[in-house]
Amino acid sequence: MSVPIAIVEKVTPGKACDADRSLTELLYHTEMASKVASHLPKKYMGLADEEYTARILAAKAKLGTKLVILGHHYQRDEIIRFADFRGDSLNLARNAAEHPEAEYIVFCGVHFMAESADILSGPHQKVILPNMSAGCSMADMAPTDDVLQCWDELQAIAGVQGQVTPVTYINSTAALKAFCGINEGAVCTSSNAKAILAWALKQRPKVLFFPDQHLGRNTAFAMGIPLDEMVVWDPVQPLGGNSEETLRKARILLWKGHCSVHKRFTVEQVREARAKHPGIKILVHPECTLEVVQEADYTGSTEYIVKTVRESAAGSQWAIGTEINLVNRLAKEHRDKLVFCLDPVICPCSTMYRIHPAYLAWVLEEMAEGRVVNQVAVPEQIAHWAKVALGRMLATV
Ligand code: 13P
Ligand code: SF4
Repeated sequence: MSVPIAIVEKVTPGKACDADRSLTELLYHTEMASKVASHLPKKYMGLADEEYTARILAAKAKLGTKLVILGHHYQRDEIIRFADFRGDSLNLARNAAEHPEAEYIVFCGVHFMAESADILSGPHQKVILPNMSAGCSMADMAPTDDVLQCWDELQAIAGVQGQVTPVTYINSTAALKAFCGINEGAVCTSSNAKAILAWALKQRPKVLFFPDQHLGRNTAFAMGIPLDEMVVWDPVQPLGGNSEETLRKARILLWKGHCSVHKRFTVEQVREARAKHPGIKILVHPECTLEVVQEADYTGSTEYIVKTVRESAAGSQWAIGTEINLVNRLAKEHRDKLVFCLDPVICPCSTMYRIHPAYLAWVLEEMAEGRVVNQVAVPEQIAHWAKVALGRMLATV
C-alpha cells in the first residue's frame, strides 16, 4: 500500500490524532495490508517428516547465500534445526539487517517479528513469514483503532494532554510502532524496558505502555514506582475504566493486554518447585504476573534466560517460567543441569507453533523457482515512522 507522506507529516507529534482522521485509516489499513496470506497448497499437506526435511534442505541448498533462515527461540525443534540464526525477536531483526547479501529472509517466528525484520532490513531484501496466521495474541490485544481512541481520550483531559509518552513493546504491529514514532515515543523489548521507561519518563511525566500490562508493571515496579501510581487502561471501557482524576494522578498507564503463555505461571507453581527441589532457582520472563516475578529469583528476557542457564554451574537446578519449546531445548542442551518448566501442563505458544515444516518447505520451494509467497512488507511511510521509534530505542540502550 502506498500512502502519501504528507498524510503522516501533517500530524504534529504529541498532539491528539483527531488532528487528521486519515492517519487512523492509514495506520489501521497498514495492520491489514501486511497480513495478506496465500494458503498452503494441498500437495504439501500430510507428507512424511523425511519428505519435508529433504525438500527444505534441497531448496535451501539451491538458494545458497541468497537465503537466510531466522528462528525464534520458541520455535519447535523440527523448525529450529533449519535456522541459520536463532535468537530473540530483536536479535533476529538485527541479524536480518546484518546480512545484506541475503535477498530472502525467512522468519520463523510471528508476524510482528517479521515486520521488525522488514523495517530494519534493506530495500532489496524480502521478508517471508511461512504461515501468515502466525500472529501474537498479545499484539492482537492492542488493535490500532483502540490505541488511537485511547490517545484521543487522554489528549482531551486537562492535566493529561501533552503529558504522555507512548511506549510500545516490540510485540505490537508496525502501525503502533509508527504511532510511537510520530508521537515522540519509542519501542522497547523485554531486555531494555527499564532503560526505555526511564527515557520516556524524562520526556514527559506519564507513560502509556502497551500492549503488555505485566511487562510494564514489573518494569515500573522494579524502578521504584509504586503500584498506586499505575493504572490499567481497559480499551472496552470509557476512559479505560478510570476517572479523569485518577488519570491525572497516574504516572504509568498500562494497556490491558497479556501473553496467554506467560500469564499461566502461578505463585503456587513456584512454591511447589521449591518444595520438591530445595536450592532450585526460579527464572521467569517479565511477561509473567507481578506476583510470580516477585516470588522468582531471576527475571529477564528470552535471551537472558538462555544466557543464565548456559552460564550456570553444572549441577545447578532451574525451574523456568517461559515458553515450553525453549525450556525443553535448554533441558536437552544442558543435561548436566536440572532444567524444567514451572508449569507441569505443557503450554507452547500456539501461534509460533503455526510454523510447520510443510509451510517452510512450500515457501522455500516457491522461492527456489523465483516466486515469493507470504511476504511481509510494511508500507514505506509506516516503516519510516516505526524506524524512528525503533531508532529511539537503539539510541537509548
Ligand atoms: P523476545 O523479545 O524475548 O524474543 O520475546 C518475544 C516474545 O514473544 C516473548 O513472549
Ligand atoms: Fe505473543 Fe506470548 Fe507467543 Fe510471545 S509467547 S509470541 S507474547 S503469544
